[in-house]
Amino acid sequence: MFPAYTEEEVLSVHHWTDRLFTLRTTRPAGYRFANGQFCMMGLPVDGKPLVRAYSFASANHEETLEFFSIKVPDGPLTSRLQHVKVGDKVLVGKRPTGTLTIGNLRPGRTLWLLATGTGLAPFLSVVKDPETYERFEQVILTHTCRHTEDLAYSEFLKSELPADELLGELVAPKLVYYPSVTREPFEHEGRITTLIETGRIFKDLGREPLDPKHDRLMLCGSSQMLADTADLLEAQGFEEGNSGEQGDYLVEKAFAGEKRPAKPRPDTAVV
Ligand code: A2P
Repeated sequence: MFPAYTEEEVLSVHHWTDRLFTLRTTRPAGYRFANGQFCMMGLPVDGKPLVRAYSFASANHEETLEFFSIKVPDGPLTSRLQHVKVGDKVLVGKRPTGTLTIGNLRPGRTLWLLATGTGLAPFLSVVKDPETYERFEQVILTHTCRHTEDLAYSEFLKSELPADELLGELVAPKLVYYPSVTREPFEHEGRITTLIETGRIFKDLGREPLDPKHDRLMLCGSSQMLADTADLLEAQGFEEGNSGEQGDYLVEKAFAGEKRPAKPRPDTAVV
């Protein structure tokens, strides 16, 4: 129908909350991507593709594709996409791309995957990739959300993946999952930037602070989080990489999606 897209069938829909859901679809024959990449995905609207950049939450060895999405009530795409049902068709772009791939990182000892909100998606494919564990001695995945109910995939990351029949042996000794929440009490509270700046996360994990000699990072989340975290890393001597040149850290700039309406924090509201 549209030359740049294939039509894929929705196999399952999981609503985590009234704002977050996951879609699983068929995978086109011969469809190749690297773990950490994204494609354009969406629906035909008024005879045109209405699509957004969606990271693959599925690893490239899986038979189906998985996408983790926000629901924005008046978002042109997600107000529609959130209503898709099993058997419906979605448009999947034929050309996956993106910079969040381990090949774009210099060799290192510890891989830090820092996500906020649905920015978790690309890291789900990265932590399911056996090569990740061949390249790094330790993999630390942080996921920061406003509320605990937004910590989608937490059971998968905490319990299911480390116990996986095929991957568990690689994952269990190396993957550390560190969720944090910013707007209600939780075992780890605060923005990732604050947790790094105060040293709290290193204390919690019993680790030394970040060091460009052996720590490598990937960032995915809201644009302000990306900018603030990149500033913090640059100030500590980390160099950004991209698809042309390996670096100490990588940022997914295509990940903007449809924005959740900005709601002032109760403690910062301007009156
Ligand atoms: P906060 O609640 O303090 O705004 P969102 O749902 O808006 O995409 O946010 C997801 C998470 O990212 C929230 O926990 C939010 O914290 C956090 N966040 C927002 N802006 C930044 C930033 N500039 N640096 C670090 N974390 C941020």
